Amino acid sequence: MENRVIIGGQWGDEGKGKVVDALSEGVDRVIRFQGGANAGHTIYIGQKKHVLHLIPSGILRPGVKCLLGGGMVIDPWSLRDEILSLEQQGVEVRDQLHISGTAQLLMPYHKRLDELKEERLKRKCIGTTGRGIGPAYLDKIQRTGIRMGDLLLPPENLERKCIEKILSANEMLSEFYQADPLPSRVLAEELVDLARFIAPMVVDPYRELRPVREGRETVLFEGAQGTLLDIDHGTYPFVTSSNSTIGGVLTGTGLPPRALGEINGIFKAYLTRVGNGPFPTELLGDEGENLREAGGEFGATTGRARRCGWFDLLAGRYAVDTNGISGVILTKLDVLDGFPTVKVATGYDLDGEALDTFPCLSGVLSRCRPVYREFPGWEKPTSACRDLQELPAAARKYLEFLEEQLGALIVGVSVGRERDQMIWTPTGVTT
Ligand code: GDP
Ligand code: IMO
Ligand code: MG
Repeated sequence: MENRVIIGGQWGDEGKGKVVDALSEGVDRVIRFQGGANAGHTIYIGQKKHVLHLIPSGILRPGVKCLLGGGMVIDPWSLRDEILSLEQQGVEVRDQLHISGTAQLLMPYHKRLDELKEERLKRKCIGTTGRGIGPAYLDKIQRTGIRMGDLLLPPENLERKCIEKILSANEMLSEFYQADPLPSRVLAEELVDLARFIAPMVVDPYRELRPVREGRETVLFEGAQGTLLDIDHGTYPFVTSSNSTIGGVLTGTGLPPRALGEINGIFKAYLTRVGNGPFPTELLGDEGENLREAGGEFGATTGRARRCGWFDLLAGRYAVDTNGISGVILTKLDVLDGFPTVKVATGYDLDGEALDTFPCLSGVLSRCRPVYREFPGWEKPTSACRDLQELPAAARKYLEFLEEQLGALIVGVSVGRERDQMIWTPTGVTT
C-alpha cells in the first residue's frame, strides 16, 4: 500500500474525515499536519456519529497509530476533552495517539484574542471559528509560543513559563482591547495538571517518524481546511492561518517529499464555504437553501449554516495544479440526486473580460461572475450504488465532465456518509 495525502480541494468540509476513515483500514498511521480545533471532521460508523477536531480520524480504527504533527496548534484543554469523550464512547485513544513535541500550544488567551479581533473588525471580520487559530500561529511566527515539548518541563518551570505568557497576553487584552485579564495562576495550575495527562503522549517527531522515512510504515496524511483557505494560496485575507495545501505536509511533519505518496484532493460534488469572503458560484435564496437542506450543510465546529453553491471548475483546477493532485475523490454526489438540473462554473466574467484561470490576487475574485454549463439532473437515488455502472447515466456524464475538466482522474466517488458508501474508480470514471 502506498502513502496518501488527503487534501481539501475547496473551502473545507469536503468530507476529508469520511474519506480518511474509509481509507484507514490497514494503514499503520494517520497524521494531521496543520490547523487545530477549527477543523470538524464528521464520521458515521453505523448509527454512531463522531466529530473530531484535533485527533486524526484514524483513531476510530483499532491499532492505527495517530500523530498530531508539529505544524498544528493544539489547545490542551480541548485535546483532553476530545480524548475523554472518545474514551467514553469506547474508543481506545491514549495507546494509539502521539503528539509532536514541536507543535504549538493554543492557550485560552489565543481564543480570547481571536474573538476580540473579530469583534473589532465588525463587518469586515473573517468569520473565524473562534478557536484562537490566528493568534496561536502569530505567536509561533513571532517566536513567543509555548510548544508541546514544554509540557515535559519540571512543573515549576512550566508554571513559570505559562504565567509569564499569560501576563504578557493580559497586557494586550487590557491595554489594546480594554478587556478583562485572564487569571494567570489558575490557568497555569490547570496547565500543569493537563501536562500530567498529555506528557506521556508527547514525542520527538524525528525519532517517532523514522519508520515512515525508512518506508517501513504506510501513512495517511489527513489535511484540515482546504486549498482555498490556505494562508498563502487561498482567498486571502479570508483564509485560515496555516498551509492547508501540499507544502504544509512537509513543514508540518518534517518528512521528505518522497514520503508523500499519492496526493488525493477531496471535492464535494458542489461547493460550500463557512465564514466570509468571495464565493462566485454561491446560491442565495431558495436554491442555496435547498442545497443546504439536502446536504445537511451546517458547520461541525460552530454549527453555522454553510454557504452553498455550484461546483467551480476554475477553483477546482487551481487546487489540482497547486497541490499536484493525482487522484480526485468526489463526495456527496447523492446530495444532488433530487435536483432537476446541475450547474458547473466553467469560466468567470471579470468586468466583461472572460477568465479561464482562478485569480489569486485579493479583491479580484469578488468581482468575478460565473459562466455556467448546465447538466440535466439524474433525479434517481445513488446512495446504494457501489459500482460506476450502477450510477444513472446522467450522473456518469457529470462525473466524466468534471474529470476531463479538472485534468485529474476521479478515483473515488462518495454517495453517503457511511464508510462503505463509496465507489472506487482507480482508473477514472471515463469509460
Ligand atoms: P471534513 O471537514 O472535510 O471532514 O467534512 P465535514 O465532516 O465537516 O463535513 C462533511 C459532512 O458530509 C459530514 O457530515 C459527513 O458525514 C458528510 N458526508 C461525507 N461524505 C458524504 C457523502 O458522500 N454523502 C453525504 N450525504 N454526506 C457525506
Ligand atoms: P475542516 O477541516 C471549513 C474557515 C472559517 C473562517 C476561516 C478562518 O472541517 O474542513 P479560523 O478559525 O481557521 O481562523 O477561520 O476558515 N475554516 C473552515 N471552514 N472547514 C474547516 O475545517 C475550517 N477551518 C476554518 O470558517 O472562514
Ligand atoms: Mg469540517
